[in-house]
Amino acid sequence: MEMNFTNKTVMMTGAASGMALLSAQNFAACGANVVMIDINEEAVKEKAAELEAQYPGHVLALSCDVRDYAQVEAVTKAAFDTFGSVDVMINLAGGAEYRMLGVSGDIEFPDCPIDVFDWSLDVNLKGQFYFDHAVMKYMRDQRSGVIINIGSITGQEGCDHNVAYSTSKSGAMNGLTKSLALYGAKYGIRVVCVSPGPVLTRPGMAKMKTPMGRAADPQELVDAFLFLASDHSAFTTGVNFLIDGGRDIARDKT
Ligand SMILES: NC(=O)c1ccc[n+]([C@@H]2O[C@H](COP(=O)([O-])OP(=O)(O)OC[C@H]3O[C@@H](n4cnc5c(N)ncnc54)[C@H](O)[C@@H]3O)[C@@H](O)[C@H]2O)c1
Repeated sequence: MEMNFTNKTVMMTGAASGMALLSAQNFAACGANVVMIDINEEAVKEKAAELEAQYPGHVLALSCDVRDYAQVEAVTKAAFDTFGSVDVMINLAGGAEYRMLGVSGDIEFPDCPIDVFDWSLDVNLKGQFYFDHAVMKYMRDQRSGVIINIGSITGQEGCDHNVAYSTSKSGAMNGLTKSLALYGAKYGIRVVCVSPGPVLTRPGMAKMKTPMGRAADPQELVDAFLFLASDHSAFTTGVNFLIDGGRDIARDKT
């Protein structure tokens, strides 16, 4: 199945590492102009420079904190001004608050400072909401576009410490995805959510059990992003894809 994103502008947050970086590499290899966005300016610029060497003129790196709507608007405008369209948005910035902020797993929910959970709700939920809002204006004018929101198996299962992460990556993401799919349909805009199970963007994820007996290779998720962003998925919108090796249906998760 051919994946051709020539003349398409594909934006991804969290692009300094993990699935977003791999997405940038894959979409660029399929002809896209890629806009790599991350709060870690040094890292994203370094990774983008490596990609730019392979695909000159097709890579833009922008530093942005997804919690700040003014920054979100500014990078979306910069993407449009540079490449002339905003075709695909993939919301990969974020992660579970205990890991991202270095909180000990021994600290129980009521004892964890509220600002830890504020950070998570702001990055994992509002950051996606903000980017969806910002890109929608351009996609509406174009009468086309694809938004991929990112949930998590942790949103399905719940979690006794990363409570804000689970909150962000569950029903909230489904509500956002379905609402914007309903809104966007008349403008040719599709909106989907992908909820990964454990993905080996770091070795620790191998500990999370699945019936398939393994975690995902990051490429297995990026293949789904490519498919969902492409016209091969032209009739697909408003749906959440659990790509989790069967973890959601597993009886033994310990
Ligand atoms: N890896 C997994 O097993 C897994 C499973 C389910 C869901 N997810 C979700 O998929 C997404 C990507 O996961 P990953 O493991 O590839 O990510 P990662 O941890 O490798 O990268 C996350 C990136 O987000 C950036 N970031 C953090 N805060 C930011 C902010 N305020 N503004 C802009 N950028 C910010 C970081 O700098 C980092 O580059 C995350 O939302 C994660 O929660 C991952």
